[in-house]
Amino acid sequence: MAAVILDGKAAAAELRAELAERCAALAARGVIPCLAVILVGEDPASQIYVRNKKRACEQAGVRFIEILMPTDTEQAVLDQKILALNADPEVDGILVQSPLPEGLDERRVLALIDPKKDVDGFHVSNMGALATGGRGIVPGTPEGCMELIRRAGVTLDGKEAVVVGRSNLAGKPMALLLLQANATVTVCHSRTKNLAEHTRRADVLVVAIRQPKMITGGMVKPGAIVIDIGINRLENRKVVGDVDFDSAREVAGYLTPVPGGVGPMTIAMLLKHTIAAAEARA
Ligand code: GUN
Repeated sequence: MAAVILDGKAAAAELRAELAERCAALAARGVIPCLAVILVGEDPASQIYVRNKKRACEQAGVRFIEILMPTDTEQAVLDQKILALNADPEVDGILVQSPLPEGLDERRVLALIDPKKDVDGFHVSNMGALATGGRGIVPGTPEGCMELIRRAGVTLDGKEAVVVGRSNLAGKPMALLLLQANATVTVCHSRTKNLAEHTRRADVLVVAIRQPKMITGGMVKPGAIVIDIGINRLENRKVVGDVDFDSAREVAGYLTPVPGGVGPMTIAMLLKHTIAAAEARA
């Protein structure tokens, strides 16, 4: 039987409608949530991501400050910009679009962001809270994946979960969230031997490796929930995930599409974190 397709676009639209109400309630109190996004350089994919974030903010009633900096921006200039945004009481969220151009130190930049304004959840204190069971801002992509799993009605307690990919953006925080939910978690990566042996054991399979269609139906356990975080643009401009959708849907129990799966959820979570920060300010 073909998999149930998990519609992230619809789920995100629902969440964004709720968030727009929270935003309106804040506006009635004279508080406009504000997200500042810094984009350094001209990476085409990053430009698309930033454009999508801007549109979502505008629709929800969140003020969007777009800060475009040239590829040859010096570290000190970027650092100063972050510090200025930290000090600006009207800015609730700060996001530095990743990847930064070569020569800029991303870890240093992330460490400079005020953790309360770190709406991406990438600051060491937020990541540390996630790793140790504390309270902090959780990175939006894995948080969005968890929300899709919850909405599918799939329980995680005691399940075999396999995360393919170990990035700070996605794989690593995803593994921590699954662990918090009492799944038995395996993290696979580029050096993993016999990847398919691991993925075929997974009741819950989450993939974030930036490799178009790498996970095929033959690597999926029948009935599994498969969450595809990948966004890859092929030469013919078509956007596909890390999972081969057509073969995986014949085997999986639940599957997220690309586009229209995890991507819209990431943006909804970003809005949620920005609005929550504004609520704390109010
Ligand atoms: N680049 C790709 N995804 C993301 C994200 O969620 N946040 C940031 N800051 N950069 C990204």
